[in-house]
Amino acid sequence: MNYMDAKNKLKNFGQEHLLKYYDTLTKEEQDKLLLQIEETDFSMLQHIKKENATDRPSHITPITAMTLDEISEKKGHFTDIGTQAIHAGKIGAVLLAGGMGTRLGSSHPKGMYDIGLTKPVYIFQRIIENLFTVVNDTKTWIHLFIMTSEKNHADTTSFFQEHQYFGYDKDHIHFFKQNMAPATDYQGKIYLEAKEKLATSPNGNGGWFTSLNRAGLIDFMHKEGIEWLNVFSVDNVLQRIADPCFIGATIDGNYNVGAKVVRKTHPDEKVGVMCLENGHPSIIEYYELTDDLRNTTTPDGEPAYNFGVILNYLFEIKSLEQIAKKELPLHIVEKKIPYLDDDGNLVQPDEPNGYKFETLILDLIQMLDTCLPFEVIREQEFAPIKNKTGVDSIESARNLLVQNGITL
Ligand code: UTP
Repeated sequence: MNYMDAKNKLKNFGQEHLLKYYDTLTKEEQDKLLLQIEETDFSMLQHIKKENATDRPSHITPITAMTLDEISEKKGHFTDIGTQAIHAGKIGAVLLAGGMGTRLGSSHPKGMYDIGLTKPVYIFQRIIENLFTVVNDTKTWIHLFIMTSEKNHADTTSFFQEHQYFGYDKDHIHFFKQNMAPATDYQGKIYLEAKEKLATSPNGNGGWFTSLNRAGLIDFMHKEGIEWLNVFSVDNVLQRIADPCFIGATIDGNYNVGAKVVRKTHPDEKVGVMCLENGHPSIIEYYELTDDLRNTTTPDGEPAYNFGVILNYLFEIKSLEQIAKKELPLHIVEKKIPYLDDDGNLVQPDEPNGYKFETLILDLIQMLDTCLPFEVIREQEFAPIKNKTGVDSIESARNLLVQNGITL
């Protein structure tokens, strides 16, 4: 794209200010800026004026979860089915590690964080160790696909290399990058984060399937015979990955997707819960839960919206391919965005100063027809690290790891 094309493209979206420093840049920087302008999808900016994706009209009803008691009755049966699927190479794992981890406040990828006390225990290492439990039990390598973003790809890949993939077979680890989205001020003007660079951020965890596809990895999965993907977040250091019992239950029930869930500790717990929305499986955020919904009970007198998601899902690839052409709704989130001020100095704001655009994995679930909420024991499978201190912090996760016999 040349300068005039870029200027015209920007004019259509009211973003000509992005060329403000063009004349002061070196030829290489100019080319870099023009390429970024060419590659950036500005159409999402129009969403700022429209209603947010979360404001859609909806009819919420309860969804039935498979409880611990039901699971334990059929544990052997489910585990056999899951183990067979692993042996047959039908299961892959997808680690979502493209996020910025801003709440943790580290400048490195979250997975590089060392949570050890007497020895180094990195978050990525914990994840590989968790996966190894199943790999060792089934004597089968499971392909692991790791989503990074432009911001953390180089750090992540070299970290794995330096640590020899924590003993995992490197031919079974595949990295792929997610897309970036521009970040704007409250008037919808995209910030510059350098004179030759638009401010961008990873475009949320909803685009993982599209990004896998773009990287040619879905074709690879077809060749390998992978049919199901266990998708999980980077920050739950206690989760079970490729859990045969969970896999078996989801396959046995012919579901499009399975979701690991935990029972809420109290009605006001700040966790998204599973429900049906307009007849489709969905997740309702805690701040969307009205008093009516909160007080609804099942025929047994249990709260009807009581199972929180922990970002550990098993998706059937075939089902995802059927909805691949549908567009995910865009969520506009207020965030702190580093930017160049009028004098060209980089400012790191202390308060939110604009919008980022994200798609979310929970919207992918809403597009599918059926989902199995599969209950797990919170104290054994859920130790998320979101914050430095307090709730869902390094400290709370360490306590849970020690309770589960893991040496730190
Ligand atoms: P979070 O919603 O906790 O976001 O991500 P985050 O970026 O890690 O942390 P904060 O909010 O900035 O503190 C849940 C999971 O989704 C992944 C994260 O890496 C994490 O595993 N994620 C999130 C992506 O892979 N890409 C994204 O664009 C956002």
